[in-house]
Amino acid sequence: MASIGIFDSGYGGLTVFKAIVAKMPDYNYIYLGDNARAPYGNRSFETVYQYTLECVQWLFDAGCDLVILACNTASAKALRTIQQNDLPKIGPEKRVLGVIRPTAEIIHQYSRTNHIGILGTSGTVASNSYVIEMAHFAPEIQVSQHACPLWVPLVEANAYQTDAAKLIIRSDVEQLLLADKAIDTILLACTHYPILKPIIQQFVPESVNIISQGELVADSLEAYLKRHSETETGVDRKGDMLFYTTGEVSDFEAHASLFFGKDIKAQSCNVVKK
Ligand code: DGL
Repeated sequence: MASIGIFDSGYGGLTVFKAIVAKMPDYNYIYLGDNARAPYGNRSFETVYQYTLECVQWLFDAGCDLVILACNTASAKALRTIQQNDLPKIGPEKRVLGVIRPTAEIIHQYSRTNHIGILGTSGTVASNSYVIEMAHFAPEIQVSQHACPLWVPLVEANAYQTDAAKLIIRSDVEQLLLADKAIDTILLACTHYPILKPIIQQFVPESVNIISQGELVADSLEAYLKRHSETETGVDRKGDMLFYTTGEVSDFEAHASLFFGKDIKAQSCNVVKK
């Protein structure tokens, strides 16, 4: 079966997958969460690249010629090397797309002040990928970034509703807004963060937009498939969805519905080749 592969370090990519399925329910999809090795956010370039490549290769072997890295950290640290160095060796028909470019292309349209704030993992922020990409598409935009290294661990551990978690979230949001008082749009540049949106909203003035990237990525994928019929026609259209995790299946099933909005049956997998 030929499917579209969706990859994330853990659960976060499910927020993007949910938006993709809402827009394009007919395709077959395989979701892979590398929960056993999540979070990726504080790991080195080399490690994120190696883990991401293993997961992409696993999705290729499972019948996905097109893989979406539904993870900003992997998109920032591994996408370019995979596209430039690995795909030519693995197979010319294989495609890997990330989430940073489709988001950076469009995000300026949400801002009236032209001042945008980015919240992401340490890896995404340190890579400067959003700043670099946004400078291509909208050089007039003033971008401020703030890294939130504790947010993904809080979400992965389902511990984000506690008072301590709210204090951490508040402090991070306030640091971003203090860096530039003209920010009127905050991009949640990590696919885990939409889960935190109701909490983030409490610490942000009503006039500030908080943007999650799921729908932006879904729109961009739809446009990509229209432009690339050679890729699109290769994907089966039975509406099948399979979920795999490198971690504990019972944990994945228990948490994943929170991100995906419905119950999920998952299977375990090992992406490391012996
Ligand atoms: N969802 C990933 C992202 O968008 C989380 C990264 C992590 O595992 O730290 O960056």
